[in-house]
Amino acid sequence: MASDNTAMVEMAGGTEQIQPAHFAFDATDEAAIAMHVAKYPAGRQASAVLPLLYIAQERMRQTTGSAWLPVVAMDEVARRLDMPPIRVYEVATFYLMFNTTAIGTWHLQICTTTPCWLRGSDEVVSMCRAFTGIKGWGETSADGKFTMAEVECLGACVNAPMMQVNNDYYEDLDAASTRELLEALARGAPPPIGSMKHRQGSAPEGGPTTLTTIKA
Ligand code: FES
Repeated sequence: MASDNTAMVEMAGGTEQIQPAHFAFDATDEAAIAMHVAKYPAGRQASAVLPLLYIAQERMRQTTGSAWLPVVAMDEVARRLDMPPIRVYEVATFYLMFNTTAIGTWHLQICTTTPCWLRGSDEVVSMCRAFTGIKGWGETSADGKFTMAEVECLGACVNAPMMQVNNDYYEDLDAASTRELLEALARGAPPPIGSMKHRQGSAPEGGPTTLTTIKA
């Protein structure tokens, strides 16, 4: 049942989503918003819609633990940019990086495009399903900690297979390192980002083999 601060809103497909009744940016957000809006000439503020949606989604993460865009937040972005709300909804529902329903604390965005698939993304997906109990894409674990999403190439194929967790990349995954990663996330202690084999960038395992000396 919705509380005084929430409302049930019917979403596409007939499902219902609990929507908060209030949303507000904080002082840090206001400074970032002013900086982004100032990049565009008068009357073209709508061009700042993507960064403002990011800021709103991060505000939700920080205040509720779930990075998503309730209707009231999208309406606030529309108001700030003098846009019809429907145009903001169109942008938010078009891009995969925006969530229009609440998600878990850790958003597991697993790349299954060909290079990651050839390098073992099936193992990564299976381990995520086994660890979290999540069966379908877009679902959240019963404990509210994890949401799984299938994504297309995230541009880190050189260290495939990989997944993005919230805003960070974890690369060179296999079943064991995926389990290690998930255990650390469940403890609320995410490991250092990047290669799970501790490669330097995309250099060979064991370290760079070329350009190893730098001339003065
Ligand atoms: S195919 Fe997975 S990052 Fe490019």
